[in-house]
Amino acid sequence: MEYRTLRQLPSGGFSDIFEVEDPETALHETLVLKRLSAEMSARPAVRTAFADEARILRELRHPNVVTFRRCYFDSSGRVCLVMEKVEGEQLASWAHRHRDRPRVVLEAFGRVIEAVDYLHHRPQPFLHLDLKPENILVRSTACGPVPVLIDFGIARSLGGGGLKAYTPPYAAPEQQSGSTLGCFTDVHALGQILVELLDELGEGIDPALRDRLRAVADKATRTSRHRRYPDAGALMLGLRAARATETAPLPARERPRILLTARPAAVATAVGLVLAAAVAGVLAIDGRDGPDPGPAGLTGEVSPELAADSPQELSAALTRAFNAYSRADVAGGDEQFQLARRIADTTQVDAATRERMRRRLEEFERVRDLILQRSSVDAAQPVTQSSGIRSPR
Ligand SMILES: Nc1ncnc2c1ncn2[C@@H]1O[C@H](COP(=O)(O)OP(=O)(O)OP(=O)(O)O)[C@@H](O)[C@H]1O
Ligand SMILES: [Mg+2]
Repeated sequence: MEYRTLRQLPSGGFSDIFEVEDPETALHETLVLKRLSAEMSARPAVRTAFADEARILRELRHPNVVTFRRCYFDSSGRVCLVMEKVEGEQLASWAHRHRDRPRVVLEAFGRVIEAVDYLHHRPQPFLHLDLKPENILVRSTACGPVPVLIDFGIARSLGGGGLKAYTPPYAAPEQQSGSTLGCFTDVHALGQILVELLDELGEGIDPALRDRLRAVADKATRTSRHRRYPDAGALMLGLRAARATETAPLPARERPRILLTARPAAVATAVGLVLAAAVAGVLAIDGRDGPDPGPAGLTGEVSPELAADSPQELSAALTRAFNAYSRADVAGGDEQFQLARRIADTTQVDAATRERMRRRLEEFERVRDLILQRSSVDAAQPVTQSSGIRSPR
């Protein structure tokens, strides 16, 4: 089946990118089709990388990652990757338009880190390796801005091979020199994005907060990978610590009062933003190489044999709880939180590990209860619909 082309989008030369629609569907929906260019199709390494992009994207299901639809050969034998069209604006221009709302911008950046953290915690972790403002589209929704990662063109499995391609200044030194890549490589790019967001926010941000955030960005972009945050979860923890004293309320115009019972989705978003910090703390310490935080074992009982892995199991359950609360699935979140408690209560571990697990649960619960006990929450004001996608280059 061939799609109807609506228009061609600017691309970096490896592929041709089109907005398309499926002529056979009864529901009109614009999709994005990425097709390896004729020239690049002749290069086996590029063909493999393109297939990897489709394979990786097919594995991913996350609100802040573009959704895969289909991969097929067209009539001329070229591989085509079809995905949802993200109705959004590139991060840099979006941040520029919102430079007078630093909290909204920083919260959106936190969502980007969460999406990368999700990649880093797949059963087989993935590295994006091309994180930059052009590859992050910010979608405006009723619950506030939602950044979405696109362009997995040079993404690879952790430890696997792939194309040597990179974009300075986001690319880490090890990416430029062709040495071992890891989650810390994506951390470098995130740190560079934070540097640029802070420049954009300029004087609009409290000077002490800016200094703390600059220190986070400095650590994320260190030349030595050993001195950087090891992964996106650890970076999230750094961001949370830097923002911990950022207590001033949003200006009234950015702070609609939303009743807890009236807008569960908005409440869940606010819960998610706060919980993200707590969960990131847990992940940063124990979940780095942990098990799949996805749906497997959702309601599973914990057996004593899992004892050795119990801190990771706990992290995974808390991650699932966080994800459920973020989706307004309070029952699902509670279920996962109860599972986390059972893990902490029933597995046989040494006293120090048990104490660490107990503290992590307490921290998670404290943040969750704080939010759930409130009768109203602050939520970021929805931003106006973006004027469209700017040409990336
Ligand atoms: N799913 C999508 N939804 C909306 N816009 C998209 C989507 N995918 C790509 N685009 C637009 O097309 C531009 C180019 O796409 P993408 O980043 O995937 O490829 P690229 O950087 O050109 O990579 P390559 O070097 O492989 O050609 C993006 O910056 C974005 O503006
Ligand atoms: Mg791109």
